[in-house]
Amino acid sequence: MRGEYLSRSSAETREYARRFASGLGPGDAVCLTGPLGAGKTEFMRGIAEVFGCDEQMSSPTFSLMNIYEGAMRSRPVELHHFDLYRLETEKELEATGFDEYLSGPFVSVVEWGEKFPSFENRYTRRVTLYIAGEDERRIVIT
Ligand SMILES: Nc1ncnc2c1ncn2[C@@H]1O[C@H](COP(=O)(O)OP(=O)(O)O)[C@@H](O)[C@H]1O
Ligand SMILES: [Mg+2]
Repeated sequence: MRGEYLSRSSAETREYARRFASGLGPGDAVCLTGPLGAGKTEFMRGIAEVFGCDEQMSSPTFSLMNIYEGAMRSRPVELHHFDLYRLETEKELEATGFDEYLSGPFVSVVEWGEKFPSFENRYTRRVTLYIAGEDERRIVIT
């Protein structure tokens, strides 16, 4: 799934995310980009729904990385959810083993993934969310 979409609610954003996620598989790494409040975590929730692990998503407290045990077409899939917002240096990121996580047979979704340019070429998909109004978001998928 590629293109530009206009979402008018968080439910609609999750719906686009589900459509997008149905094309993902182990080895995919998604860079989720957009300003605070754009709906990156909401989009992630839609992805997690497709893998049946949205209930494992924690409340908004920050964590650098969460691992969810999901499944697709009755095969187990590990879904890795990163949020690099609070991370300051590339060194810190490397120390987490980020590189190995991205190379593994997982589905990785990285909020603020564009923050560290040296990992830019590791992403297989990019999703950018723009705030277009109070409840409106433009979603660009490449
Ligand atoms: N169309 C929309 N899509 C996604 N979120 C929306 C939309 N309209 C309003 N919102 C609200 O915007 C906020 C997005 O929060 P969140 O997903 O945590 O953003 P981010 O992770 O990008 O900082 C939520 O409070 C959500 O309810
Ligand atoms: Mg977020």
